[in-house]
Amino acid sequence: MLVLGIESSCDETGVALYDTARGLRAHALHTQVAMHAEYGGVVPELASRDHIRRVVPLTQRVLSDAGAVRADIDAIAYTQGPGLAGALLVGASFAQGLAVALGVPAIGVHHLEGHLLSPLLAEPRPEFPFIALLVSGGHTQLMQVDGVGRYTILGETLDDAAGEAFDKTGQLLGLPYPGGPEISRLAERGDASKYALPRPMLHSADLDFSFSGLKTAVLNLVHKHPEARTEDVAAAFQAAAVDVLAGKAMKALKQSGMRRLVVAGGVGANRQLRQRLDADALLLGIRVYYPPLDLCTDNGAMIAFAGAQRLMATAPADGIFTVRPRWDLAQVTAL
Ligand code: KG4
Ligand code: ZN
Repeated sequence: MLVLGIESSCDETGVALYDTARGLRAHALHTQVAMHAEYGGVVPELASRDHIRRVVPLTQRVLSDAGAVRADIDAIAYTQGPGLAGALLVGASFAQGLAVALGVPAIGVHHLEGHLLSPLLAEPRPEFPFIALLVSGGHTQLMQVDGVGRYTILGETLDDAAGEAFDKTGQLLGLPYPGGPEISRLAERGDASKYALPRPMLHSADLDFSFSGLKTAVLNLVHKHPEARTEDVAAAFQAAAVDVLAGKAMKALKQSGMRRLVVAGGVGANRQLRQRLDADALLLGIRVYYPPLDLCTDNGAMIAFAGAQRLMATAPADGIFTVRPRWDLAQVTAL
């Protein structure tokens, strides 16, 4: 089955073709980062308009890269939520329209399920069950994953998401948007031990996170030390965030007795986080799985893949067409 995947929940238009027999055939992405940068964050109306401009050319490119034609498409998967309502509607309308024209089914996919299953697009594939650390711009969750659609949330952020903390910290350090990749780049040249920052909730009994206090601590630090080098502050912030994320992930593994950890979402691209998780996991005899680097952030491949898993198990309801800007992952149906 050849599944076309469409992602348009935020500021990336992603299109991909996934073949259930042969794997990922092609994927293409257009990021709106430069367009939103001058506003310091995503402007929803601009995002929707840009998805409209990009989705058709990207689809044509993916088909031609894969050496396929429209008539080869067996099904279409699109991001149904969560995300920006207008942005989601662009991908959903395009997917549903194309599906009607081709006479194939269209299925709505939960964006986080896409992230969560994205490490299954790489070899070696993790087997179920596993613990997932989902760290993106909008979400920070630890989950137990027993199968497709069988997700138990073990812990989550009580305030800012990890990526949001990177982005807000980047903003207060005067770095371009988004702050995550900028901070991680600067931190490579910084000295993390120069400034002590808190590790919020690291030793709390639960598996929840809190990042807003860390961001405030950075703000206080730069007020108190106006002479501080941005590299050192970035390194200190990243070290604190990585300590908390890795500490809680290891706690979840110990508590659940699971032997596999899957890391997904944009912050999963962070090199320091990867090194730390690998080192901690080695000590516990745990194997860590990551999506390929280019599939860490939003993309169409993860949507095509998650949609394909669902389509192989159930037929989608015909003609149902809604987007779900707010949608709890615990509410998705199990296969
Ligand atoms: O998963 P994603 O592309 O979009 C959401 O669904 O949110 O994640 C984007 C987030 C942004 O907050 C971005 O700053 C962060 O991932 N990010 C990083 C890195 N690359 C992207 N954060 C830290 N280090 C990175 N290397
Ligand atoms: Zn995402």
